[in-house]
Amino acid sequence: MTGPVEPPSRLLSGDHRGLDREFEEFQAAAGYGRDRRQQIFARFAAGLRRHIEVEERLLFPAFGEGDPSHRHLVDLMLDEHRRIEGILDRIRLRLETGPTSTEDLESELVNVLWAHNVREEGSVYPWFDTHLPEERIREVTRALRDPDPPGRAPEGP
Ligand SMILES: [Fe+2]
Ligand SMILES: [Fe+2]
Repeated sequence: MTGPVEPPSRLLSGDHRGLDREFEEFQAAAGYGRDRRQQIFARFAAGLRRHIEVEERLLFPAFGEGDPSHRHLVDLMLDEHRRIEGILDRIRLRLETGPTSTEDLESELVNVLWAHNVREEGSVYPWFDTHLPEERIREVTRALRDPDPPGRAPEGP
């Protein structure tokens, strides 16, 4: 890949928006059959897990090391990631049981994810625009676009 890099804040916020759209697609499919709902959810969940993996592998370590005052924020982000993953697991399991509503879990996810994304976009991502080396930005761009990252177990069923 050559040419100018996209500012990380725009790249990562854009990934949030793409994931939002996929989640809305899942919510709009509430009346569909189990297989279709599982399929739509699996795509959304895989994308969100990839986003989290990229943040934790390529971004948060640099942010935490960049300034000691960032560390508590990194801990908070990691904690929220674990909560998000836990809700994804619970939705996946619920969908396996059949044509059941997942609305309660969807609300839970929206609440955690919305606050998390606002925090990242307001307090974390802008730092990368001035501190992340260009080569690392390219690596992040590639990793977010990789449709099948290594070491990522496929989302059920
Ligand atoms: Fe995150
Ligand atoms: Fe994020």
